[in-house]
Amino acid sequence: MTVPVIAIDGPSASGKGTVACRVAEALGFHYLESGALYRLVALVSLREGIALTEAARVAEIARRLDASFRDGQVFLAGQNVSEHLRSEECGKRASEVAAVPELREALLARQRAFRQPPGLVADGRDMASVVFPDAGLKVFLTASVAARAQRRYKQLIAKGISANLRTLSRDLEDRDARDAGRSVAPLAIAPGARLLDSTPLTVDEVVGQILDWYRESAPRAKD
Ligand code: DC
Repeated sequence: MTVPVIAIDGPSASGKGTVACRVAEALGFHYLESGALYRLVALVSLREGIALTEAARVAEIARRLDASFRDGQVFLAGQNVSEHLRSEECGKRASEVAAVPELREALLARQRAFRQPPGLVADGRDMASVVFPDAGLKVFLTASVAARAQRRYKQLIAKGISANLRTLSRDLEDRDARDAGRSVAPLAIAPGARLLDSTPLTVDEVVGQILDWYRESAPRAKD
């Protein structure tokens, strides 16, 4: 029997990570945050001064990436780099390296290796279209730019980091345009994906909706 996959794609700050993690917990499934892999490659490329134009070297980073994931934290060669990965600098660079086709190809096998029993919830931009096209449930999770900027603003302020709503909105729009406009695996609603606009919803409501859809699509998962 194939291992079930729930693919959750969507733009930056749509709440994919929080939602995907909660859905995985509720079902006892594994969780893949594919954006973390792109951010890890971005971090290494920044540290080693590898230019975006050096596609073969960028892809090479993915092949030798010594990454591990434990308790919601990300480790690079044993060092906890979770905070570094969430920086705006790393996020911006991640969306740039993500446009390198050789890199996307090099990350495919690594992402598919997360598909282990009893199941996987994977979030990203191309989970439904490219990485797990046979996923049993495909969700495109989105929210208005204003709602996403507001959520990110609150997160930053809660961490004691100063932030500006207008700048955050502009950055999100820039990133959306870059992720949707690239020629390989652009951010888009995959055929068969269900659209979920979380603008008016709480996290609990979004998680509940995805679990309902999953149970409808896999009746035996109810037990
Ligand atoms: O989900 P995130 O914001 O952590 O992702 C960081 C960047 O990586 C994002 O700008 C686009 C890219 N990405 C991608 O191209 N494909 C994925 N499956 C996940 C992330």
